[in-house]
Amino acid sequence: MTDDRVVEGSGDASERQWEAALRPRRLSEYVGQPKIKENLHIYLQAAARRGDALDHVLFCGPPGLGKTTLAHIIAAEMGVRIRVTSGPLIEKAGDLAALLTNLDPQDILFIDEIHRLSPAVEEILYPAMEDFKLDLLVGQGPGARTITLPLQPFTLIGATTRMGLLSSPLRNRFGITFHMDFYPVPDLQVIAERSAKLLVVPLEAEAATELARRSRGTPRIANRLLRRVRDYAQILADGAINLAIARDSLERMEVDRFGLDDVDRRILLTILEKFAGGPVGLNTIAASIGEEKDSVEEIYEPYLMQIGFLERTPRGRRITARACEHLGLPLPGTMGPNLFGSGSP
Ligand SMILES: Nc1ncnc2c1ncn2[C@@H]1O[C@H](COP(=O)(O)OP(=O)(O)O)[C@@H](O)[C@H]1O
Ligand SMILES: [Mg+2]
Repeated sequence: MTDDRVVEGSGDASERQWEAALRPRRLSEYVGQPKIKENLHIYLQAAARRGDALDHVLFCGPPGLGKTTLAHIIAAEMGVRIRVTSGPLIEKAGDLAALLTNLDPQDILFIDEIHRLSPAVEEILYPAMEDFKLDLLVGQGPGARTITLPLQPFTLIGATTRMGLLSSPLRNRFGITFHMDFYPVPDLQVIAERSAKLLVVPLEAEAATELARRSRGTPRIANRLLRRVRDYAQILADGAINLAIARDSLERMEVDRFGLDDVDRRILLTILEKFAGGPVGLNTIAASIGEEKDSVEEIYEPYLMQIGFLERTPRGRRITARACEHLGLPLPGTMGPNLFGSGSP
């Protein structure tokens, strides 16, 4: 993974610092996703009124839509501590037990990439989520026995980019599940403008719209594009971002009108040119463009499907007429008779 990519899901340390700086702290600052905000607000108030921990919450959706941000907002709104970890980091049941036994009442345990928990760790999580207790196996062989430890009532917040990979017993133990959607352009514009204020960079409204349109419905990408465009504006102009500067720098970054980058275009062109438009399996696509299957599936495909450029069929992925139109190439099978110069009735 090169770090000048605009679309890629996770960044390096400096990127993460930027993200933290631009992250809304309270629910009122969180832009868009009105249904989620409204419901969350109600659940938070209800839990506070009862003096209970919030029900366990699961966020699912593509990277960069604000799952981690919401987890931190929930902690801030409840005035509790949040412990942050992720599925692949919890290797053994004991690792999770250590995290759980250190929680204070109503604390939040945030597990990112929760679909990547190992089955042994998941087993520990079930009684913890359900009854706030921990069943631990101590000793070995015939002398082994299970001891049960009580836990403080806590809230587990899980985030996943791959709902389909979550086991159903785990999924069912979340009282609250939120599906995150790609953001519409006006919301992304507000996000870009908010971030520009925080970065103290002048951003004209039309330029903000242009950034928003090319952000693939994703706040993380809107912020990333803004930071890049800011660099161009500082070097090539007086630092202010107007429409001309925004367009020019987005062209230089090869982010097109739909926010597609080089990898998106390679995915589409491969399906079109090597596989006659599909259907073709995801593994084959990933292998032919030299990308990880997971990143194609988690990062690129959802947006290409959302904008109607790609279709999922039982036999694989197929390119759409709309995508071909965008690429300026004919859709296979609809190329018409004049391709062979034969004319038809
Ligand atoms: N609704 C939103 N309003 C403002 N900024 C947002 C919103 N959602 C996400 N962001 C910003 O986008 C970046 C990525 O969000 P993050 O919560 O890390 O996404 P995820 O965890 O879903 O991958 C963060 O810098 C965050 O501040
Ligand atoms: Mg995250």
